[in-house]
Amino acid sequence: MNLNERVEAVEAEIAAAQGGGAEAAEAFRIAMLGRNGKVTALLEELKQVPPEEKRLWGQRMNQLKNAARTRWEELKAAAGAAAGTSAGPAVDRTRPALTGPAGSLHPISLVRQRIIHVFERIGYTVSQGPEVEDDRHNFGALNFPPDHPARDMQDTFFVEGPGGMALRTHTSSVQVRVMESGKPPIRTISPGRVYRNEAISARAHCMFHQVEGLYVDKGVSFAELKGTLHHFAKSLFGPEVKIRMRPSYFPFTEPSAEVDMSCTICGGKGCAVCKHSGWVEIMGCGMVDPAVLTNCGIDPEAFSGFAFGMGVERIAQLLYRVPDLRLYWENDVRFLEQFSDGAFRA
Ligand code: DAH
Repeated sequence: MNLNERVEAVEAEIAAAQGGGAEAAEAFRIAMLGRNGKVTALLEELKQVPPEEKRLWGQRMNQLKNAARTRWEELKAAAGAAAGTSAGPAVDRTRPALTGPAGSLHPISLVRQRIIHVFERIGYTVSQGPEVEDDRHNFGALNFPPDHPARDMQDTFFVEGPGGMALRTHTSSVQVRVMESGKPPIRTISPGRVYRNEAISARAHCMFHQVEGLYVDKGVSFAELKGTLHHFAKSLFGPEVKIRMRPSYFPFTEPSAEVDMSCTICGGKGCAVCKHSGWVEIMGCGMVDPAVLTNCGIDPEAFSGFAFGMGVERIAQLLYRVPDLRLYWENDVRFLEQFSDGAFRA
């Protein structure tokens, strides 16, 4: 057989090749394109072709090689399709998945969610306001006199530019926004970030989280405030927990109180966390000052309300016994991975 006949014979063989699964496709590749394959052998013969015929034979051999490759691809595809339908999936879908380490919610997010959940179940909505706030919402409408020390440069991060804007120092600013834009009955909590110009230490940070609560309606009483906060403490820390209120002062509430909870770490016996008193402070609260209601367009003769504000880091510290606030910001996975949805659920 001359070269032409041999090429034709291999071409015919390629065209006639029959599919028969992945192994047959591989056998075809070896027989044609492998090191001792028929197409490979013919390509070798190109070297012996006289120079003037090289171009023509080169083209012919290229076509032959491409035909073999195309046929091989077709056989492979047919084998895969067949495997997918009749002979079972080419990929074993029952094999266990390769899993990487799963992320988890940040402990502050978890506690924030839990707090929200407790109040949502007793009819509170969730409202939010801006972190860059004007003086009126952060201070003025909340009854802070113009010379109040909390407005001092030492506490507040002011934002450059006109209008006396600042990073809000508390989420009480959202109270004002809610009362301005809605009518009683109002029952809402406002979780969010707040900022204070504090030196960073184990016990303080320049940025932290608060949840503000506000209830305004006809005839809202201090007794309801206490009942609500006791319900909250029990929901988070268990039925045994006690609360007590100490008289305090906030410009926007009258009367005002600070709320202590029986120390969950030592059960009230006294430990380092409660400074051996058996009680830990968890929030501030009070009856919304009538002047604040008026500032926000609500008639204090017709309505009364209570408000409270708590630090999320503080609550988280009591739930998780985290000794140093800075751990919340370092994002060390060894710290973060200890908290998961299950970690705090009873
Ligand atoms: N805004 C206060 C703070 O940042 C917390 C607070 C106290 C909020 C009493 C209130 C409240 O609503 O009634 O320290």
